[in-house]
Amino acid sequence: MKPAANSAPKTFAVKSFGCQMNVYDGDRMSELMAAQGLTATDADTADLVVLNTCHIRERATEKVYSDIGRIRKHAMAKHGKTPMIAIAGCVAQAEGEEIVRRAKVDVVVGPQAYHNLPELVAKAARGESALDTGMPVEMKFGHLPARRRVPPSAFLTVQEGCDKFCTYCVVPYTRGAEVSRPWAHIIDEAKALVGAGAREITLLGQNVNAWEDDGRGLHDLIVALDRIEGLARIRYTTSHPNDMREGLIRAHAEVEKLMPFLHLPVQAGSDRILKAMNRSHTRDSYLRLLDGVRAVRPDIALSGDFIVGFPGETDADFAETLSLVDSVAYAQAFSFKYSPRPGTPAADMADQIPAEVMDERLQRLQAAINRDQEAFNQATVGRTCDLLLERKGKLPGQLIGKSPWLQSVHLVTDAVIGDLVEVEIVSAGANSVAGVERVSIAA
Ligand code: SAH
Ligand code: SF4
Ligand code: F3S
Repeated sequence: MKPAANSAPKTFAVKSFGCQMNVYDGDRMSELMAAQGLTATDADTADLVVLNTCHIRERATEKVYSDIGRIRKHAMAKHGKTPMIAIAGCVAQAEGEEIVRRAKVDVVVGPQAYHNLPELVAKAARGESALDTGMPVEMKFGHLPARRRVPPSAFLTVQEGCDKFCTYCVVPYTRGAEVSRPWAHIIDEAKALVGAGAREITLLGQNVNAWEDDGRGLHDLIVALDRIEGLARIRYTTSHPNDMREGLIRAHAEVEKLMPFLHLPVQAGSDRILKAMNRSHTRDSYLRLLDGVRAVRPDIALSGDFIVGFPGETDADFAETLSLVDSVAYAQAFSFKYSPRPGTPAADMADQIPAEVMDERLQRLQAAINRDQEAFNQATVGRTCDLLLERKGKLPGQLIGKSPWLQSVHLVTDAVIGDLVEVEIVSAGANSVAGVERVSIAA
């Protein structure tokens, strides 16, 4: 069902479904629409709903289609009309006209073209077709409004796209080739974020550690950000093992504001599977890399991503993933069942793994990861550290913040969101820890 006539929307809602970069894009689209004079509201009442989608696994894509139906049904029942629907993000890029055909949405805009959203919305309001999945050479960032209100922990995209072509992954197709934003633009945006209230900045990229500009690498950028007054913490994600340079490892020892946390996906523990995935690192080279990081920063919290049930994965291959987890002892990790994605080489490989085998492997892997996560949390009990308060907790007077090791820390305090406080970690569970306040460092 296509909404009959579309008057120009006055209110909007953006819903993001994907990775941190997708969330960053969603925030920037909100800022863009607000700069056009539209008012932010919730998806149930908005004149324009932007679904900022993710294509990484099958369930993510299917969710978009069911969401479109749900939003329309709900709005029809409540207000007797349906909103204008814009599909943004990686499903928009991958499926383009297919979404218009299948779900009759009003606007389709890819992740490299969303600076054109206001123009596309205006076109749709005139009843014209509004699809833009272009990948312009000139990046969108120069066309976006300045940052205004931001959370204490803010994202900053510095690099986009991927040239690695892991055989299971859609990202090189949905986000395009690796591109780095220029140094000066990043420094300006970082200063604007700090001016707007950010105390922590997480530098984002599909391969953030591949960032470079005129011979300078991510570690040079981190050193420069370290000098920004008012900024207390720096993080970066996601890194690829092959782009993990010596300078970046050293930065973990030398740059005070760089937090002791590293998310470094490995995907599998068996060299045979890593090869079939086209990961271009081995189990051993990955483990040696982590040894190098731990040598300079012994308290570093390590995180990873895993895929179980990649085509051809045997019990013996999977046992190597478990043994890798045992030897690394991650502070946290994400694990996924392999999902065949259209157009990727792995989707056509022989020996696709049955669902029940994947289920069983995922359960065993997650049990091992949870065990290590709880052990990591337990090992931090008794440590004193700073805590950046980010949101309210469930109990009265309780706030939740992040430790340097990215643990969620619960704290009862008079401090407010955005404050940095010093705490002692006093107890630990599988998913979070509790702290007791020491002294207030700064407001
Ligand atoms: N660029 C980052 C993140 C990519 S997407 C990186 O290389 O690490 C985040 C995670 O999703 C990946 O690390 C991988 O574990 C998972 N993933 C990607 N494609 C997948 C697929 N087809 N099926 C299941 N998991 C997938
Ligand atoms: Fe996907 Fe691999 Fe690129 Fe990560 S490195 S985005 S998993 S192709
Ligand atoms: Fe998803 Fe696109 Fe991010 S596919 S994981 S939203 S880059």
